[in-house]
Amino acid sequence: MVPATETPTAGSTTRNPFHVPSNLPVIITIDGPAGTGKSTVARLLAKRLGLDFLDTGAMYRCAAAIMIDRRIDPEDVGHLVSTVIGADLHFDWETDPPMILAWDAPMDHRIRQSDVTAAVSRVAAIGELRRHMVRKQRIIAAQHPRLVTEGRDQGSVVFPDAEVKFYLDAAAGVRAHRRAEQLKEHGVDVELNALTAQILERDRLDSTRSDGPLVCPDNAIRVDTSDIDLAGVVHTLEDHVRDRIGALIGDHENAE
Ligand code: DC
Repeated sequence: MVPATETPTAGSTTRNPFHVPSNLPVIITIDGPAGTGKSTVARLLAKRLGLDFLDTGAMYRCAAAIMIDRRIDPEDVGHLVSTVIGADLHFDWETDPPMILAWDAPMDHRIRQSDVTAAVSRVAAIGELRRHMVRKQRIIAAQHPRLVTEGRDQGSVVFPDAEVKFYLDAAAGVRAHRRAEQLKEHGVDVELNALTAQILERDRLDSTRSDGPLVCPDNAIRVDTSDIDLAGVVHTLEDHVRDRIGALIGDHENAE
């Protein structure tokens, strides 16, 4: 079992990175369940390709944090959505990775805390909130047209015409083990069986909701990361992007 935690060499291997031509708008989506290494992979891939990186999970986490901190009743969807709209969630693109802000205040420290993680799947199932997030994500892509974006619905709902779409997966036991390693680094010891059960429950909630459920998008390249380390996953995706972008440039030149 190979952990997907970041290593000093990951993303900075001796391989020369493939840079997407700077005049080419390109959207790359990465979807999949928690624990596949998706977020780190997306960030490193974006860096190697010279693209911006969008973490859409951070947006849903922010909404959950706002609900908890403002003591908004989860049943009061109208109040929650209007408060989130008023918070004007946005990213600071000068930081690496881009930091998310609500009411212009940084939220990164808050959104990874356990009460937010426990609440976020239910918040992310609210259709009205998802529609707001989808609109925001498309606006972000219009402002950052060279983008690697990761989440659950990026290739299926938000950017179905993205140039390259990936779906990352891994066995639930492997994902739980990775999460346990991450938590251990933060001094938190957890029981592996309980963690696997939590992950399976989150998968169930994310994939059975009616709005933007977690699915492998049409035409997405599926990559199982169970037995590949982080650098290996980044290289695999980069190879696919190089092939796809090369074909797109070829088509473009042939059409001229
Ligand atoms: O990737 P993450 O763990 O930060 O995501 C947090 C939650 O938000 C998770 O329950 C899935 C949900 N999510 C979503 O529904 N749609 C997205 N595009 C991104 C995340």
